[in-house]
Amino acid sequence: MSDKINVLISEEDVEKRIQEIGAAISKEYEGKCVHLICVLKGGVFFACELAKRITVPVTMDFMSVSSYGDDTKSSGVVKIVKDLDQPLEGKDVLIVEDIIDSGRTLSYLIEILKKRNPASLKLCTLLDKPERRVKEVHVDYTCFNIPDEFVVGYGLDYAQRYRNLPFIGVVEPGAGED
Ligand code: PRP
Ligand code: MN
Ligand code: MG
Repeated sequence: MSDKINVLISEEDVEKRIQEIGAAISKEYEGKCVHLICVLKGGVFFACELAKRITVPVTMDFMSVSSYGDDTKSSGVVKIVKDLDQPLEGKDVLIVEDIIDSGRTLSYLIEILKKRNPASLKLCTLLDKPERRVKEVHVDYTCFNIPDEFVVGYGLDYAQRYRNLPFIGVVEPGAGED
């Protein structure tokens, strides 16, 4: 049985919004170089699209994190699976995520990255589910606030699938026709 995917935000609307956010970032970082940190794997599609819409110089680095087991999830501790290649000292850093849900991943990541002395540290997310928040996180740029539904596409997965969908969809597991 296949899953049914209903479109929540169309490809056209996602791209239009990324262009707007890219323009806002270009304005704010005028005269600077923005160092984008893509949080793998979900952040990768958004980070690449966003980078294409930024007109100031851009550098990029990648990081992979995973939550510890359910027992310690409430502690908000995440494990660095792949660290950044480059130091952050003196850089204008912008973390790029696909979604902020409980906020655990990002609140922890921000604490770690702050200690590396960037000149500035901001957060940009494609999607935010504010009603799910457990840990407070300050988000500087949000493309879309969405309701608490299971979304896929544009980097977001359901059991590792559907990241490559060019739109944001809501999954109905097993509801599709085969
Ligand atoms: C998802 C998403 C965020 C995080 C948000 O990543 O991409 O990184 O969870 O959740 P939180 O706000 O509750 O911490 P996931 O752990 O599924 O890994 P993935 O990006 O590789 O899919
Ligand atoms: Mn992720
Ligand atoms: Mg995931």
